[in-house]
Amino acid sequence: MSSNLFGRAIRDRFFLEDGIAFLNHGAYGATPRAVLAAADDWRRRMEAQPARFMQRELPGALRRAAAALAAFVGARGEDLVFVDNATTGVNAVLRSLALAPGDEVLTTTHVYGAVRMALQHICMTGGARLVEAEVPFPAAGEEQIVAAVAKGFSARTKLFVVDHVTSSTALIFPVARLVALAKSRGVRVLIDGAHAPGMLDLDIAALGADYYVGNCHKWLFAPKGCGFLWAARDARDGLHPAVISHGYGKGFLSEFDWTGTRDPGAWLAVVAALEFIAELGAAEIRDHNHALLLDAVRLLGDAWSTPAGGPPALLGAMATIRLPLPQEATQANAVALHVRLFERHGVEVPIVPFAGALWARISAQIYNDLDDYRRLAEIALA
Ligand SMILES: Cc1ncc(COP(=O)(O)O)c(C=O)c1O
Repeated sequence: MSSNLFGRAIRDRFFLEDGIAFLNHGAYGATPRAVLAAADDWRRRMEAQPARFMQRELPGALRRAAAALAAFVGARGEDLVFVDNATTGVNAVLRSLALAPGDEVLTTTHVYGAVRMALQHICMTGGARLVEAEVPFPAAGEEQIVAAVAKGFSARTKLFVVDHVTSSTALIFPVARLVALAKSRGVRVLIDGAHAPGMLDLDIAALGADYYVGNCHKWLFAPKGCGFLWAARDARDGLHPAVISHGYGKGFLSEFDWTGTRDPGAWLAVVAALEFIAELGAAEIRDHNHALLLDAVRLLGDAWSTPAGGPPALLGAMATIRLPLPQEATQANAVALHVRLFERHGVEVPIVPFAGALWARISAQIYNDLDDYRRLAEIALA
């Protein structure tokens, strides 16, 4: 499909309000109408005969959805399970680990806030130490990131947790190289790919990590509450979901495929999300979003005379640009500005305090066009 059908032309296929510049796809995604309709169809089918559905239809449907998703992200269906979101997947892995006093867990200063909390929790309960490798920001390039992370390993490092695409700073980390670094030291690796599926061309099995967690409700267009956990076959001993249920001790798929009664609509509708992507072209979507993002970065950088958080090679469909404002880089100032931009100007864009400055984190999705970013450029200067 030609990308001139993106932008305004495709907005009707989403529920987004008219008249707003929605530059925050990264936070929670935005689900196409057709994909939500598919989730509703699954719910209706479930309610027609709930017992038959849960006991005899759901297990197969779930595995078929997992296989379709796995094929899209470079994995095998039997190595991938659904979770509600990246937070749940990360917690399953972290809370399955047996840490001992003196052990170290390595992450970076760009780690997602909720994951930092989970890391602090398991380190505190296990008597382990959390080490955050300081990755400079703005980032210069891959070499700098690899060198910064390399300094964080020690003989005591047991686990390395790294974002594929960082949340606050919107950088693509060179995860294949970082996994190789960790593996050369015998360290297990969990990749937090919350933003990666749909934004990046993924080949998860080829990365060589032990665990990969992803969200489908961000860049893959699935309904909210759809994430996954991939685990290497030799990394599943002792791995359990955050919630233990009937499948306990019966293997990876049995343990994760049933964690109690829940609405599986979002998971099953991932097939419809993949169909939506296939209709438009996965590569076309990625290329369009990346090109639009780079145009927007140039536009905002020229308007504000401020730098972006990283070079184009480290950007996918999100970027940060420093705001040309004198305010102190506090969370309170960031929240106030975020709310003001939307309430007064109809521009939804997260504002991030990082490395002593306030940054706008922009997303580029198929329903955006350059006018959305022009609006932001003009407002923030006013
Ligand atoms: C890197 C990273 N990890 C985890 C999450 C949490 O995602 P969720 O709220 O879907 O669990 C996010 C959300 O933005 C994220 O950016």
